[in-house]
Amino acid sequence: MIGSSFAWSNDNAIIDSSTRFHPVMSDSGMVVSQEIFASQVGAEILALGGNAVDAAVATGFALAVTLPRAGNLGGGGFMLIHLAEENKTLSIDYREMAPTEASRDMFLDTEGDVDNAKARFSIQSSGVPGTVAGLLHALDNYGTLSLKQVLQPAIDLARNGFPVSTDLAASLQARQPTLHKNPASKSYFYKADGSGYKYGESLVQSDLAATLERIAKSGKRGFYKGRTAQLIIAEMRRSGGLINHRDLADYRVVERAPICGDYRGNRVCTMPPPSSGGVHMLQMLNILEGWDLQALDHNSAAYIHRLVESMRRAYADRSYYLGDPDFFPVPVAELTDKKYADFLRGQIDLQSASRSKDISPGLASAAAHNQSQVDKLRSIPQESTETTHFSAWDRWGNVVSNTYTLNFSYGNGISVAGAGFLLNNEMDDFSAKPGSPNGYGLIGGAANAIEPKKRPLSSMTPTIVFNRDGAPVLATGSPGGSTIITVVMQMILNIVDFDMNVAEATAAPRIHHQWLPDRVFYESGVSADTLGLLRGMGHQLSDKTRRLGATESIQSDGSTPFLYGTADHRRDGSGVAVPAAD
Ligand code: GLY
Repeated sequence: MIGSSFAWSNDNAIIDSSTRFHPVMSDSGMVVSQEIFASQVGAEILALGGNAVDAAVATGFALAVTLPRAGNLGGGGFMLIHLAEENKTLSIDYREMAPTEASRDMFLDTEGDVDNAKARFSIQSSGVPGTVAGLLHALDNYGTLSLKQVLQPAIDLARNGFPVSTDLAASLQARQPTLHKNPASKSYFYKADGSGYKYGESLVQSDLAATLERIAKSGKRGFYKGRTAQLIIAEMRRSGGLINHRDLADYRVVERAPICGDYRGNRVCTMPPPSSGGVHMLQMLNILEGWDLQALDHNSAAYIHRLVESMRRAYADRSYYLGDPDFFPVPVAELTDKKYADFLRGQIDLQSASRSKDISPGLASAAAHNQSQVDKLRSIPQESTETTHFSAWDRWGNVVSNTYTLNFSYGNGISVAGAGFLLNNEMDDFSAKPGSPNGYGLIGGAANAIEPKKRPLSSMTPTIVFNRDGAPVLATGSPGGSTIITVVMQMILNIVDFDMNVAEATAAPRIHHQWLPDRVFYESGVSADTLGLLRGMGHQLSDKTRRLGATESIQSDGSTPFLYGTADHRRDGSGVAVPAAD
């Protein structure tokens, strides 16, 4: 659907889908998300006088209604906030936590192999949800409007219904085999006879509206205690889940200092562990900074070769060094050190491809990946459509970049009966067995082993980039599991190295490599000649194209009030919304 464009307005907001090469422009703030009604909610909050945090929180709750495959109450995520007045950037970690009854080998079968069905689609795959605590923490500390004001639009969408988009109809159809197995999900997302909603039909979610109303009335207690908590625990008991009342009451948001690095004079601030995204994006940018990429030309073979070899080395490190920093001493400073990048760059042969089996995590040669293990791990990850990103920017220069998720599309497919929302399957982001690939084909080490109250490693990479003068110039992020990190990095490269505007940067074909499987994934649009040259260098290319990520981004020139937003056309239904002019 690249190139589609439409616009409409109500009293408070104008929604516009950008075209392939032209961003939407506004001088009064902007919200970009994967679902246009949710973007509109954010713009209406800006029109009410709310700041970017108010708009982001309202959009997050609205997406829980209108984008149930990834928008959520039952999942978790990361929010980066830049506060203009204080000139301060912070991150909020509201990632799910393992229940206290979780244990290292809980997903292993009697043979000691990972039981993937249990790790991904059983109720035990759910971590303790963090979204409600995270969004409320942001609002309480950095918002300006009341909880009732920011929640009312989501309540209205759930209570009164909204017209089903082609994207929602299609994704519910694709996920029907899983969602039909759970009676609550079947009743929430399909008609009484079990058939799917068609484009334009209204989806009403009364139980979800009641849950949102409890949150509007009682704040965090409206979710982690009282009626909603009782419904969650009843679901756990019915289906054999591990989350108990204490786990819910004990859920904690963590504010963490973002990790920031310099790339060609720009300051890139992004999510620290338990996301792997920030660490490895900065690591790859450090490697790439040593070459004049612009001189190589965008998506030339020489350029893609350098990207792939940087990605290969960063993802090898990811497999060994990354986990929850509250449980494992993640060597962030070492991995993002420019000298380490110099060392890695020095290992790269500019004429021919390395083999992933020859690359080990680099900081310590002790990391062992023997040949038989590597051969076993050559599974191709399925295309992931889950997780979602949104960006919000207000007229005062406050910026929010938020990525949150249920992990897989529609999480584990299990809804909390009576409460109207789906549960995550984030426990699969742990390494159920160090050395075994998860749902994205990613390998993890002991750093990411399951432990009670630990947060699973993530790839989510909400990012804000600042120019040489310290002004924010880009907010971006993406869904896409393991591909998130490389997709977000290519947005930065496209803008910084190739001077693209945000729409061009979004539309440009992307590539991805993650060490294992040893394969270059690429989008349609990378030229056949380039692919031939890459094969000639020894790269193993995927046998078909795939779509990589879905960035929802806002750009500024850093010196005027104008903002430029682009919703990624890779996902039907995404949109930019701006407050209507007074
Ligand atoms: N569940 C996907 C991620 O957190 O990266």
